[in-house]
Amino acid sequence: MDEVICETGGAVMRLRLNRPAKKNALTRAMYDALTAGLNQASADESVRTVIISSEGADFCAGNDIADFAQGLGDMHSLPLDDLPVFRFLRALTYFDKPLIAAVQGQAVGVGVTLLLHCDLVVVADDVRLSLPFLKLGLVPEAGSTLLLPQRIGYARAFAWMALGEVIGAAQAHEWGLANSVVHREGLDEAARHMAEKLLRLSSSSLKHTKAFMRDPDQLWAVVRAEGEVFRKQLTSPEAAAAFAAFMNRAG
Ligand code: COA
Repeated sequence: MDEVICETGGAVMRLRLNRPAKKNALTRAMYDALTAGLNQASADESVRTVIISSEGADFCAGNDIADFAQGLGDMHSLPLDDLPVFRFLRALTYFDKPLIAAVQGQAVGVGVTLLLHCDLVVVADDVRLSLPFLKLGLVPEAGSTLLLPQRIGYARAFAWMALGEVIGAAQAHEWGLANSVVHREGLDEAARHMAEKLLRLSSSSLKHTKAFMRDPDQLWAVVRAEGEVFRKQLTSPEAAAAFAAFMNRAG
């Protein structure tokens, strides 16, 4: 079973996380599949927009914690740019067509920070967004130390990252993390509707507008800087203890 389903065949590509039993926690193989999908969408002129969504009750429980543990060797020996997660983040950072996210249930860690790279976000009314990086002894990633304060202001961003509260749909909408909130059953349709609206616009106008509104080189420098610290923090005693506690609880 594909853990990332890539549906093409029209102007809209769909990238659907498909590991619902693990709340769509992302493994290295899933990052590779997402990167391949984004690169394919970039290269294919007939693809005008991409919708990222998930199967099951939850959008994404963040990076797979067992995969973190298994990948620690590579994480420290390989250049950052060769790691699956950073190949994905690079593809996301430099993706120049509109990206739409449809988000339900739990969204944790990178399941939230990837949303900051999306141009339109629709959430279900049951969404619960959390950023547990500091609780895990890590640092925020995916450029979120730049993008989150830009999006919601420094005070909210720092408090959310440091205090680790769970944010619901109304708060996400009010803060500008989500463009709209819909009932869970209407989520896919709402994302499709957004995509259809974009398809009526000039693709070059959209591309230029996105380029004016974001600076991928600046963002990528932040993603890399965060990444260098993140991988050091992964071996901190606090992170080791937090991961062991989760694995023991799960196992
Ligand atoms: N990595 C690996 N497995 C994960 C996971 C993750 N990030 N998140 C959830 N899972 C797995 C659980 O181990 C469990 O697997 P099992 O049924 O084989 O035991 C399954 O997904 C369901 O998760 P569970 O914890 O039972 O669901 P819940 O509703 O009680 O809690 C969360 C949901 C998201 C709050 C909780 O799973 C969680 O805190 N996950 C870790 C989130 C995280 O810290 N991510 C990393 C950020 S860097």
